[in-house]
Amino acid sequence: MKPFPLKDPIAHITWKGDRLLMLDQRLLPRRIHYLTCRNAGAVARAIRCMALRGAPLIGVAAAYGMALAARCGRRELARAGRILRRARPTAVNLMHGVDAMLAAAALASEQDLVRRVTRAAEAFHREDIAGNQRMAVLGASLLRRGSRVMTHCNAGALATGGLGTAVGVIRYAHHVGKVSEVFSCETRPYLQGSRLTMWELMQGGVPATLITDNMAAHVMKTCGIDAVIVGADRIAANADVCNKIGTYGLAILARHHGIPFFVVAPATTVDMTTPDGSRIPIEERSSDEVLRIFGHPIAPVGARARHFAFDVTPHDLVTAIVTDRGIVRPAQGRNLKKVVG
Ligand code: MRU
Repeated sequence: MKPFPLKDPIAHITWKGDRLLMLDQRLLPRRIHYLTCRNAGAVARAIRCMALRGAPLIGVAAAYGMALAARCGRRELARAGRILRRARPTAVNLMHGVDAMLAAAALASEQDLVRRVTRAAEAFHREDIAGNQRMAVLGASLLRRGSRVMTHCNAGALATGGLGTAVGVIRYAHHVGKVSEVFSCETRPYLQGSRLTMWELMQGGVPATLITDNMAAHVMKTCGIDAVIVGADRIAANADVCNKIGTYGLAILARHHGIPFFVVAPATTVDMTTPDGSRIPIEERSSDEVLRIFGHPIAPVGARARHFAFDVTPHDLVTAIVTDRGIVRPAQGRNLKKVVG
């Protein structure tokens, strides 16, 4: 098989056999610094404080966290599973990562436990990398040559174990001449769009322009956007899509302007046990993250704020969902079941 033509911009997650190295994404793009996690508790803390983030990546990190816990026996493995599952509530990949390791453990003898769970974690990571590559090719097939696209948050390498989901499609499509320019929404309050997506696109040599979130409507109206491409944190059985806060607004804007709205996510993001988007738990984070930027207050002392981290886009606003198992089009529960099973 020919090697995939694009590489990850940086080694952001590396399994060392007895520890997990991860790029601390809170410091990007100013500083490249790696954290070392030697047990599942440290992995859960890194997920909770968003040192690493992005639905598929926290699934992969949780799988390695379980491999670290397996060294301390079955009881510790079960405890680690509970701690990791609670680290963040919305992205279902995290739960899939834990469950896949518990399933591997259930088949292992005592002597074999560490080896079986470690192998399963490595396989879970490899499958994410391969899935990203399949989605990149499938997603690019939906675009016309020279398209101008808009994306939100960071659904790139930094959010997965491999090349990325939405940004993987964009980078591959650029490589084959289908994307000429990308508009990246900055994604308040954590600024994944400005700090992470812009960094990745620039590293990959993709022409990219940063806009603030409230510029999206104007850019769609005046800059000739051909498609909006985003990732997902959980897709319900009826194909409703939960993703970074602001995605729902972009989908409404895209519909108004007649622009196709594509979601790119692996099967590990699909949750067939959640019937529709209203049942997806939406993480609400500290209001401090809204009231301050890099520690500097941006509102009057005592101001109240809310910080919803995700929102749900109803499936009828989604043109197609690109998964690693095929394209779901139109985005409806029946089609999702056919493709993802
Ligand atoms: O809060 P985050 O940064 O973990 O949210 C990430 C997103 O919403 C991404 O768009 C999503 O996880 C898809 S990543 C391939």
